[in-house]
Amino acid sequence: MDFYQKSRQVILDHQMSSGAFIASPAFVHYQYCWLRDGTFIAYALDLMGDHLAAERFFRWGAMVVERYRHKASHVIDLVNLRKDVPVDCLLHARFTEDGFEVEGEWGTYQLDGYGAWLWGLSKHVKRTGHEFLYAELMPSIELILRYLLATWSKPCFDCWEENSHRLHLSTVAAIYGGIAAVKEYVSTELRTSAEKELSRMKSWLFQEGIKEGHFTKYVESDEIDASLLWLHVPFAVVDPLHPAMLETVRLIEGQLFFEGGVHRYPQDVYYGGGQWILLSAWLGWHFVLTGKKNKALAIKQWIDRQFDSDGYLPEQAAHHLLHPDHYLVWNNQLGSSAKPLLWSHAMYIILCQKI
Ligand code: BGC
Repeated sequence: MDFYQKSRQVILDHQMSSGAFIASPAFVHYQYCWLRDGTFIAYALDLMGDHLAAERFFRWGAMVVERYRHKASHVIDLVNLRKDVPVDCLLHARFTEDGFEVEGEWGTYQLDGYGAWLWGLSKHVKRTGHEFLYAELMPSIELILRYLLATWSKPCFDCWEENSHRLHLSTVAAIYGGIAAVKEYVSTELRTSAEKELSRMKSWLFQEGIKEGHFTKYVESDEIDASLLWLHVPFAVVDPLHPAMLETVRLIEGQLFFEGGVHRYPQDVYYGGGQWILLSAWLGWHFVLTGKKNKALAIKQWIDRQFDSDGYLPEQAAHHLLHPDHYLVWNNQLGSSAKPLLWSHAMYIILCQKI
């Protein structure tokens, strides 16, 4: 089977008429659309030349932003007035395919997806030369930029939708990457505040985010998390040769990497804490950029072996679990884990392209 083309097909088959992507069509809990997943899916499409499909996603994102403009503006006003921001005022992280918030219990308050969306949109414009999109979507871009400038230093759920009371380095990396990517195109006044805040974010990451020589999952933790790779790629906050980044990758390889697959973090119990396809591809992406192509190829080959007979990739592979006792607990509670996961297919495409 041509896994690369199959992945493209899985993604295109599950793009909704609105432009959104359902995270995992067969897993009931993921039948919604996340800005985070969607951005990397759209980036994979852009790398393959499917620009129209990618553009439809970015337009869907802007439509969502405009629908909830009143919420974002209210949060910005509260922060400017130095008032508390109640959690239910904040923008959500996942939406229905038509771009409405989803009711019910969920860790909805996550900021990284908005940073990623800005970053992905800028990559799309760069690759296609469609600068008209900046002109058309500028009101939404500027609103999100203001929103992130106002909120980045507040705790929120991380990219795994956990630990809501913490400040996560990968979240700040995504915000940094998004703001840095669009700052040249926004108003002069906004660019000036963006530049000031970007340098505060960077100092913050180095002052608060390093312990024992490596970056940490969140402030006041000494754990690592594979999402710390975002500091290097794609959000380019930290040079991959910075000693703390080198040490972080060394620990990720030592503690979270096993025969080609990458775990999220040492204490992960979700479905027993298996190996995530998307993170494996991420480490491969980092290896390509740091001149270790053979290691990236070995990861790609490991991912090739995770495709099932229908050509689908799961969210995580279950052959090597960090906490096997928890596997059945999740399985009994939620059913089999997510498959196909569109974000896994996207990261596979990205890794193949980068190799
Ligand atoms: C993951 C998120 C992801 C969502 C949808 C969650 O379990 O932790 O990163 O956005 O699933 O794929």
